[in-house]
Amino acid sequence: MNEFKSGLEGVVAIETEIMEPDREGGSFRYRGVDVEQLLGHFPYERIWGLLVDDDLNSVMPEPEPYEPSGLTGNAPSDLQCETARLSGVWSLGKLNEISDEQAREDLGRLSAQMMAIVARSARLADGRTDPVPDEVVVQGQTAAERFLLRWRGEADPRAVKALDTYWICTAEHGINASTFTARIVASAGADCGAALSSAVGALSGPLHGGAPAYVIPMLDEVAAMGDPERWVNDTLDAGKRIMGFGHRVYRVEDPRSRLLKQASTELDAPRVEVAVELERAALKALAERHPERELPTNVEFFSAVILDVAEVPPALAPAMFACSRVAGWSAHILEQKRTGRLFRPSARYIGPSSRPLSELGGAPVPG
Ligand code: COA
Repeated sequence: MNEFKSGLEGVVAIETEIMEPDREGGSFRYRGVDVEQLLGHFPYERIWGLLVDDDLNSVMPEPEPYEPSGLTGNAPSDLQCETARLSGVWSLGKLNEISDEQAREDLGRLSAQMMAIVARSARLADGRTDPVPDEVVVQGQTAAERFLLRWRGEADPRAVKALDTYWICTAEHGINASTFTARIVASAGADCGAALSSAVGALSGPLHGGAPAYVIPMLDEVAAMGDPERWVNDTLDAGKRIMGFGHRVYRVEDPRSRLLKQASTELDAPRVEVAVELERAALKALAERHPERELPTNVEFFSAVILDVAEVPPALAPAMFACSRVAGWSAHILEQKRTGRLFRPSARYIGPSSRPLSELGGAPVPG
């Protein structure tokens, strides 16, 4: 048996052709193409096609008419429930029983619908129970524009650009917790709705996907205090983590962070100045306190800043991340299906050795 690695750090769990992070060089590529070359030239829905079909002319489909059953306005949980529910509503087939073509079609339908569900849930959270009429939504030229129209009934061009940039930069990033989850569920032959809804659950925690929700309140605290160095040192002295810093894979600046910072500056994001000041103070303090380990800015820090251009409330951030990741998850579910191999790692037992029941104490239940 191999040596145990906590958190599976450094363990190669899959082989993939989808995305390559350049750990040392600070760039990243989708299917071999540098993402910087795609930004501003292809909208998100075409990046979905690149990742899923290896074809920039392939496009994520439009959502078909569907009425979500019990939206609450909590977008991450609405998305998780509704995506799982679609498996039943659409009678989706099990991945080990359907063709690759059928799986691809299911993933396209689900991806499009997941974005619509998030937009509908966000609208409800804004106190609007009336869906935006389809004739308004279809006026949007891109997935980002249609998302905003479905959410708010209007789509400011700066907000469209912010969302599109954010979705493209975060569409896929290898075998992280949510993608691994999607692949594990797919490997068991579950349907695409089950695999995608499980991934949504994995993405909702603060250590992967949920951090942007904490970044805006953090920036507001720093702005109110007016002293980023003091705020950083107080936070670290209290034993807390600074959200948006540190990464399992990157030991240099996360290239997605660089691209999102650049776009946030170009779009004159509302909190970009305080974010840049906090970043400077945080990198300095983290380097002093952890000379043994690089803790660079990760994708989630400037994600929060760029989402702020579209006035995305912090609580909606994990669901916005899920919208972008439908591309990466779908590509990985298909890739996993093609391997046809069930995940079944091993565990090293470290509990007590065989022992008598009497050692546990407590009287047995009579009968
Ligand atoms: N702020 C302060 N300290 C941090 C830190 C952060 N953001 N990230 C890591 N550290 C410290 C840890 O406290 C730990 O210190 P210790 O050894 O003295 O206990 C050390 O760095 C290693 O941390 P560890 O959790 O083992 O690193 P990891 O590579 O497993 O973790 C993350 C990666 C992303 C989970 C981690 O950096 C983190 O929690 N970041 C904040 C949340 C975040 O931004 N999430 C989004 C990720 S894209």
